[in-house]
Amino acid sequence: MDFQPDLRFLVTPDPAGHGLHGWLRVPGDKSISHRAVMLAAIAAGETRVEGFLEGADALATLRALRRLGVAITGPDAGLVLVQGIGLRGLKAPDGPLDMGNSGTSMRLLAGLLAGQSFATTLIGDASLSRRPMRRVTEPLGLMGAQIETNAAGTAPLKVVPMAGLRGINYRMPVASAQVKSSLLLAGLYAEGETCVTEPAPTRDHTELMLRGFGYEVRRTGHRVCLRGGGQLTGGRIAVPADLSSAAFFLVGASIAAGSDLTLTGVGINPTRLGVIAILRAMGADITMLDERLAGAEPVADLRVRAAPLKGIRIPVEQVPLAIDEFPAIFIAAACATGETVLTGAAELRVKESDRIAVMAAGLTALGIEADPRPDGIRIRGGSLGSGTVAAHGDHRIAMSFAIAGLRAGGPIEIRDCANVETSFPGFARLAESVGLGIEELWG
Ligand code: S3P
Repeated sequence: MDFQPDLRFLVTPDPAGHGLHGWLRVPGDKSISHRAVMLAAIAAGETRVEGFLEGADALATLRALRRLGVAITGPDAGLVLVQGIGLRGLKAPDGPLDMGNSGTSMRLLAGLLAGQSFATTLIGDASLSRRPMRRVTEPLGLMGAQIETNAAGTAPLKVVPMAGLRGINYRMPVASAQVKSSLLLAGLYAEGETCVTEPAPTRDHTELMLRGFGYEVRRTGHRVCLRGGGQLTGGRIAVPADLSSAAFFLVGASIAAGSDLTLTGVGINPTRLGVIAILRAMGADITMLDERLAGAEPVADLRVRAAPLKGIRIPVEQVPLAIDEFPAIFIAAACATGETVLTGAAELRVKESDRIAVMAAGLTALGIEADPRPDGIRIRGGSLGSGTVAAHGDHRIAMSFAIAGLRAGGPIEIRDCANVETSFPGFARLAESVGLGIEELWG
């Protein structure tokens, strides 16, 4: 059992009605940071990664790669230098690799390690050890990999060395970028072609970055394919600021009267833009300024000003494009007039926490009518009250209730916030610098 001293946030309302103001750069994109160091590790030559997320999740990936024999310098103010050792250069680690709270590390590395000639064991914390892993171990099994889970299909994952993987044509039952990426990484080691068809578009950072490393990836409609046995060549990667971290401020500045905030250098990959589409449909005033490219990834500065929000029926096709931002969107819904209805989002129940149940409980504790459903939630906008809510160790729940403080009738105490560190180190300080009344309390 992991022991972490509890970190609590105490947020106080914004009585003067100043809202959030100024300019802000949130930390590097988590999904892109993981992929940058993984691909750099198995490339030929050095890769220079700038803007790497120094949060616990991406650091878990970095540590695992070091233990697999990869020489890595940093991170130092977001700079990481990776000495790639080629597709066949990874070495057996001296014990289990600990992925902490990070589902992305575990699922992507399972794919990368499935075709190696040595055994590895992947372990995680209590939350990660409850999350479903058969979604990767089963299709990897179809490729010839052998990965043992425990009886519930959860970690630890024991990857047994296998002589050779073979490419497959796989139709994913759930829209998951982690599953797609895991199979593509295994596909680098497989005989022939590996193709993955997604039921709906999911983030495509793996495909874009593989191409950036000079590896051919073909996409036709919802199907992505690559052939095993090629070579990746190292280079330079500039990681954009994480839209998923920016989302808390997009909501915070939208709900707090008087706000005018600009978030700089944020990734605006179309496969991630659900949160902006949904908030705009609710009436949010978000402008994209200075759109440009950071390598293969589009970025922009996002200016957000306070605006009255209204409840909406969230279009189901936006769900995979906003999958990590729903806790923040639920706070927007709580502050909107009328009802917001989300369906087709059962995946939220198997994230770092059951995000439907945990958000519904917290909103209810604050006096908002929230009706959880198996695959979504119905939230009636109202007056957020004061009280204590539990984040259940889920970083995004903790930060969502923190920004709710901007519109609350009194202080909100949020318990179990230490994992904010997994994706957004320095959140409280940065949020305070633009106007959120937030205190961190330990113990
Ligand atoms: C991620 C994919 C998503 C997302 C997660 C990061 C990725 O998970 O929720 O935070 O980097 O590929 P799923 O693939 O489970 O939807």
